[in-house]
Amino acid sequence: MNFLELLKKPNLIAAHRGDRSQKPENTLSALESSIGKCDFIEIDVQLTKDLVPVIIHDNTLGRTSNVSKIKKFEERTPWRVSDFTLEELQSLDFGSWFYHEYEPILTLKKALLFAKEKHLFLNVEIKDMSGAFADEIVVQIIIDMIKKTKTEHLILLSSFYHPYLPICKKHSPNIPTAALQMYKHPSDLIEYLHALQVDAYHPEDKITNQKTVASLRKAGFFVNVFTVNQTKRQKKLFDWGVNAIFTDFLV
Ligand code: G3P
Ligand code: MG
Repeated sequence: MNFLELLKKPNLIAAHRGDRSQKPENTLSALESSIGKCDFIEIDVQLTKDLVPVIIHDNTLGRTSNVSKIKKFEERTPWRVSDFTLEELQSLDFGSWFYHEYEPILTLKKALLFAKEKHLFLNVEIKDMSGAFADEIVVQIIIDMIKKTKTEHLILLSSFYHPYLPICKKHSPNIPTAALQMYKHPSDLIEYLHALQVDAYHPEDKITNQKTVASLRKAGFFVNVFTVNQTKRQKKLFDWGVNAIFTDFLV
């Protein structure tokens, strides 16, 4: 089964940043803890200064690492991910902000190999790195890693930064893509999504309504909604025809 075939199944649950209510988000432990509790796992990817794709949500390191406690990095505020090399990130702890255990930075390569070994589906969200790196470079590096690890069939690529999405399709037409959206739908939504050549639309829950879901589904787009933690709301969205919901709480 590939990711598009998975999306044809009803009422899918996606683990938002892994099992982030139990383990530090976007770490290997968070991925491990999601196994058996969801249909796919969402992770966020960014590039290091030396162009290595790593799994982290914020574009700065302060919230989810111990960088603020490390003397040699005190002059490096605001601790942007794109200003640190992989080796520097490997000297940090991505667990202690959450609990009393050390967790290393997770690389995309390691996440992909883990997904392959455990037969897990991954939604890789490409964070907006347009302020630091050229769009072509960002997409090329991520797709190259997916191809190198032979995990194309396990992956759905998404981004809030929509210019990445047609570039993904150009490099790898077989990997499904999704446009993420907050605050307001783009005007002429269906035509807009066709122009991006995406397979799915990922709106935030706040802007999701029954009419929009129906028209997207009728037009052939999968609809996956974030972040929906209330069971009652999840059920309503599934009743409307939503394919998947992203949640912080897995059962
Ligand atoms: O991909 C769904 C969701 O992760 C998008 O928002 O900010 O949590 O990455 P964010
Ligand atoms: Mg995300």
